Amino acid sequence: MKYHIVTYGCQMNLHESEKIAGILRASGYDEEAPLEEADIIVFNTCCIRENAENHAFGNIGALKKLKKSRRGLIVAVGGCMAQEAGKAQLLKEKFPFVDIIFGTHNLSELPDLLARKKNERRVVSLYDARRGAEDGIQAYRTGYPNAWVNITYGCNNFCSYCIVPYVRGREVSRRADDILREVSALAAQGYHEITLLGQNVNSYRDGEVDFPALLDRVASVEGNFRLRFMTSHPKDFSERLVEVVQKHPNICNLVHLPAQSGSDRILSLMNRRYTREQYLQKVAMLRTAIPDAEITTDLIVGFPTETEEEFLQTLSLVREADFSSAFMFVYSPRTGTKAAEMQGRIPEEVAKDRLTRLIACVNENTRKKSERYVGRTAEVLCEDYDAKKGLYFGREPLGRMGYFRSETNCVGQFVRLKVTDARGISLYGELE
Ligand code: 5AD
Ligand code: SF4
Repeated sequence: MKYHIVTYGCQMNLHESEKIAGILRASGYDEEAPLEEADIIVFNTCCIRENAENHAFGNIGALKKLKKSRRGLIVAVGGCMAQEAGKAQLLKEKFPFVDIIFGTHNLSELPDLLARKKNERRVVSLYDARRGAEDGIQAYRTGYPNAWVNITYGCNNFCSYCIVPYVRGREVSRRADDILREVSALAAQGYHEITLLGQNVNSYRDGEVDFPALLDRVASVEGNFRLRFMTSHPKDFSERLVEVVQKHPNICNLVHLPAQSGSDRILSLMNRRYTREQYLQKVAMLRTAIPDAEITTDLIVGFPTETEEEFLQTLSLVREADFSSAFMFVYSPRTGTKAAEMQGRIPEEVAKDRLTRLIACVNENTRKKSERYVGRTAEVLCEDYDAKKGLYFGREPLGRMGYFRSETNCVGQFVRLKVTDARGISLYGELE
């Protein structure tokens, strides 16, 4: 039987979809197929911003016809949005044709829910997000030569705008031995890039093993792989961590360090627990130790009460911290969070205008930084072939995508690219 999974949101969710695929494959759905041909369609949703939710609602709604015409088709909705307070109810009311609703803490229950569905019209199973995370699910990986590895689940930070701690629950660290075993197996299978995942990797702890110690051990695992990690909360980004990055040539010198805002007053309202100055000190610490290090970030505009002046401080932070790229968002109120209760909402057109200006500013920085690559050699791990462009592509250690022509299939190989052109975050070149 065939399955199709639709994923919304971040890398964490993409990896979770690999786990859902692993579970489905063990339950008789052994082939991935396009949406129209699937026997089961699973929506792995995200609720971090309203537009991610709207997107999912739209796509689920669009299935009504297919569901009618394909007898036996099962539609399941899981992930953060299903877990969000009140949303399962809304899903039930809006989409009577949805067969299964499950949350973020009971993926492994999916085979049971599928069995129950044989006798019940609709199966809904959600657990309290405080229950603690599930571990040990065998993922069916689709990202070769890259592999994601969870090191923590959940988050304790309660940034005032963010719903993650409510839907993902408290932070739980995986056992270091389990992580090392998983990474060793992946390296032995020939994965060449491993990304350690957590909402805040820096607060990882298993007994004596904190994140720098874990990273040191993972980087020492035998194999030919690059190591990345995300996300680092700036408040916990430490000198010891930088020392470990510096020590191991296989750890990429690229840090995703979400700043969110350049204004101290907004950072404090966001409950980020660092100031602009402290953030910039961490950036300087990293760059002093590793001069070629690059930093990417997340930024939010239009947080309640944000003034034009405060927004301009975010713009100036982009230049001062010299970000190589950024994910940029308009603040989206999430029910149940502190910020959703705050007065002083910023009108949509003002927030959108700020976003446009911010994107232009970041793009300008990205362009300038990428141009420096022209004439240089980049070491690219080839990920795939882009049929439209007729080019192979893959990432270099600092996160830029390199495109090139090749006579032979080089997916999964490290290649050296003489860069001839740079456009945004993309590099174009020739094999050396
Ligand atoms: N509105 C806008 N952006 C948000 N993020 C998280 N919550 C919100 C929200 N309510 C952004 C943050 C975070 C990234 C994953 O998503 O920038 O770092
Ligand atoms: Fe959300 Fe803050 Fe946790 Fe990131 S660190 S998941 S922004 S609460």
